[in-house]
Amino acid sequence: MAYSEKVIDHYENPRNVGSFDKADPQVATGMVGAPACGDVMKLQLKIDSDGVIEDAKFKTYGCGSAIASSSLVTEWVKGKTLDEAASIKNTAIAEELALPPVKIHCSILAEDAIKAAIDDYKSKNPA
Ligand code: FES
Ligand code: FES
Repeated sequence: MAYSEKVIDHYENPRNVGSFDKADPQVATGMVGAPACGDVMKLQLKIDSDGVIEDAKFKTYGCGSAIASSSLVTEWVKGKTLDEAASIKNTAIAEELALPPVKIHCSILAEDAIKAAIDDYKSKNPA
């Protein structure tokens, strides 16, 4: 299957690979798996005291589209509030990366990872 240029760019130069200390209360961790293929994505957000995402990192064990989706998302969430980040849709990710239909679930994984990270933050920091 041919990957789009944007997928290849993110795959070859992934942005923000790495991790933060999971125990830090300002760090939100979202770990999700894709039943369709067994790939795993970990997305971490560092959230400042105003509830704005100041940094993001990911580790993904998966295909090029999953790596590109998570790399892209780390760029998109920076500077956003949690509510803004929660509204990022997999369709926008798939469109930006020109993912073919069989790779749509890779972008869903990235959307799910954002949601899982936000849930983790809310459970760590009850309002
Ligand atoms: Fe899992 Fe993409 S099918 S690597
Ligand atoms: Fe399964 Fe990409 S995450 S093929």
